[in-house]
Amino acid sequence: DVYQFGVYTGGSMQGIVRNVNDFGHLYGFDSFIGLPEEAAGVKLEGRHWNTGAFSSADALGAWSTDDLFSRLRRKIGRGPDSLTFIQGFFNDTLNESLLRLHPFQPALLVDIDGDLYVSAVQSMGWMLRSGLLVPGSLVRYDDWKEDEAWGEARAHKELTAEYQVEWRTIYHAMNSYLELELVRCGACPSGPLF
Ligand SMILES: C[S@@+](CC[C@H](N)C(=O)[O-])C[C@H]1O[C@@H](n2cnc3c(N)ncnc32)[C@H](O)[C@@H]1O
Repeated sequence: DVYQFGVYTGGSMQGIVRNVNDFGHLYGFDSFIGLPEEAAGVKLEGRHWNTGAFSSADALGAWSTDDLFSRLRRKIGRGPDSLTFIQGFFNDTLNESLLRLHPFQPALLVDIDGDLYVSAVQSMGWMLRSGLLVPGSLVRYDDWKEDEAWGEARAHKELTAEYQVEWRTIYHAMNSYLELELVRCGACPSGPLF
């Protein structure tokens, strides 16, 4: 399956559907009302990363969940049989009970585009402790900066140490984008929890 954290107006998901062949279900995780508050001491690119920025509802002028989701589905080109939106802030939605609600399969690709440290650490932490990241899974960070003063790099370093993960770099665009393959995870659950 493909896991996309940070749906906004669906551009990344549309790109994934157009460019990745042969995957199962697509899951999109978002509050749909914009960014949460960042942790203290982490760098922000600017005011466009302030709390509440990137609200899909505002951007699309969609004032009901049904309207918002049907517009996103039309843009992305997948129906409810193969595309599920998980609505809410990651610290509320990403828990063990979510694992019982959906038949999540091991990740082919995880796209991290929540901009902030809190969002990267919550989304990648949930993927790792759920056993959904397996050898061969690809992880893509959309706002990568090679400096742990920035959120995605800080979250990645902390989780790599905590879960004893070995990565292989697939693609690295300096100060913008990083794609990795999980080679081995020493402290992930031994079997998937689904
Ligand atoms: C930069 S936008 C993503 C852009 C998107 N990938 C696209 O293709 O347009 C960041 C998105 O992440 C969501 N987001 C960030 N952190 C979040 C969190 N902790 N919980 C829920 N949603 C979050 C925001 O609501 C916003 O829609």
